[in-house]
Amino acid sequence: MHRGIMSKKIEMNAGANTRLAHIGNDPHDYFGFVNPPVVHASTVLFPDAETMASRKQRYTYGTRGTPTSDALADAMNELEGAAGTILVPSGLAAVTVPLLAFLSSGDHVLIVDSVYNPTRHFADTMLVRLGVEVTYYDPMVGAGIADLMKSNTKVVLTEAPGSGTFEMQDIPAIVEAAHKGGAVVMLDNTWATPLFFRPLDFGVDISIQAATKYPGGHSDILLGTVSANEATWKQLLACHGALGMCAAPDDVYQVLRGLRTMGVRLERHQESALAIARWLEGRAGVARVLHPALESHPGHAIWKRDFKGASGLFSIVLDGGDAKKAHAFLNALRIFGLGYSWGGYESLAVHVQLDDRQVAHAPQEGPVVRLQIGLENVEDLKADLERGLAAAGH
Ligand SMILES: Cc1ncc(COP(=O)(O)O)c(C=O)c1O
Repeated sequence: MHRGIMSKKIEMNAGANTRLAHIGNDPHDYFGFVNPPVVHASTVLFPDAETMASRKQRYTYGTRGTPTSDALADAMNELEGAAGTILVPSGLAAVTVPLLAFLSSGDHVLIVDSVYNPTRHFADTMLVRLGVEVTYYDPMVGAGIADLMKSNTKVVLTEAPGSGTFEMQDIPAIVEAAHKGGAVVMLDNTWATPLFFRPLDFGVDISIQAATKYPGGHSDILLGTVSANEATWKQLLACHGALGMCAAPDDVYQVLRGLRTMGVRLERHQESALAIARWLEGRAGVARVLHPALESHPGHAIWKRDFKGASGLFSIVLDGGDAKKAHAFLNALRIFGLGYSWGGYESLAVHVQLDDRQVAHAPQEGPVVRLQIGLENVEDLKADLERGLAAAGH
């Protein structure tokens, strides 16, 4: 038996870290080298005019896939339990491409109000311009989403937990109501990654990941993946081809490389973030900690029911004050960088802007600061946060 085929069999039943070490490419497809080649390609040659006319060969043009993009797409299919995965140049594109694939003029889309802000911007500008009606729903809506469904609702876009405030959502209840109304359900699963939540297992049609975050893991690349079930795959793939929005080979390779260590990195992110979240809870100067794995979180029961773990991103609500207080906190930090994005090896902090919310109200006690807990030592991070709290007046 071909060793590659044998090792693929082991993968199916193995633990997450074993699968992460072996999914995607088969080394024996390329002389036994453990990593796939980084194929830089536009043109692919055909052996004769007949094959060219029929396009009956595995690769036909760079935008339509290469051994490098196939390796990552196959790995994602395995992790997500998907029929197919497209790769796009950013996490934001991983949201916009499926929306464009399934929405037309005259359609209605339901989007969770705690959605990543650039997703909202895309909906409020591009989708509205294209004649799509957009409604934002409360992340706590659950089965009540049935009341918001219209005859023209074609997509429900969820994100769990929500950006900045980390509300959980009852995904199975939302899926049931959305499917009853004939809508496709999409979920931005960047926070959990498929290691901690597999959306397609819960009836979601399309799982979105900003691979820029944990899969990449090193704050040096932008990439998005969109994984679809059997029912939605063909339409998603057709839109991807029509838009020509393919990902660059070096970035694809870096994400495949990042996947190999994502499991062990996530274990550390999870452990450190939870330790710091617990330590911050009840501390002077902190009104609330918004982390779904904390028993105090309103969405904790849903998190416990549906998720297998928690990643390294959560928020704190400072006790009183305004943006000035948040700035004092941030300016005192020496290890936490002030920057966007998350999922990399280094800790980051940002003052969360919540003035875009329509129905999911922002915490009222004080400003919200989002913390990305990196791979540094927990004691050093705690000391840094102490500095921030002291500067904020506590
Ligand atoms: C939940 C979520 N989705 C999507 C994105 C977009 O990812 P990218 O930065 O790769 O465009 C982000 C980025 O912060 C995010 O937080």
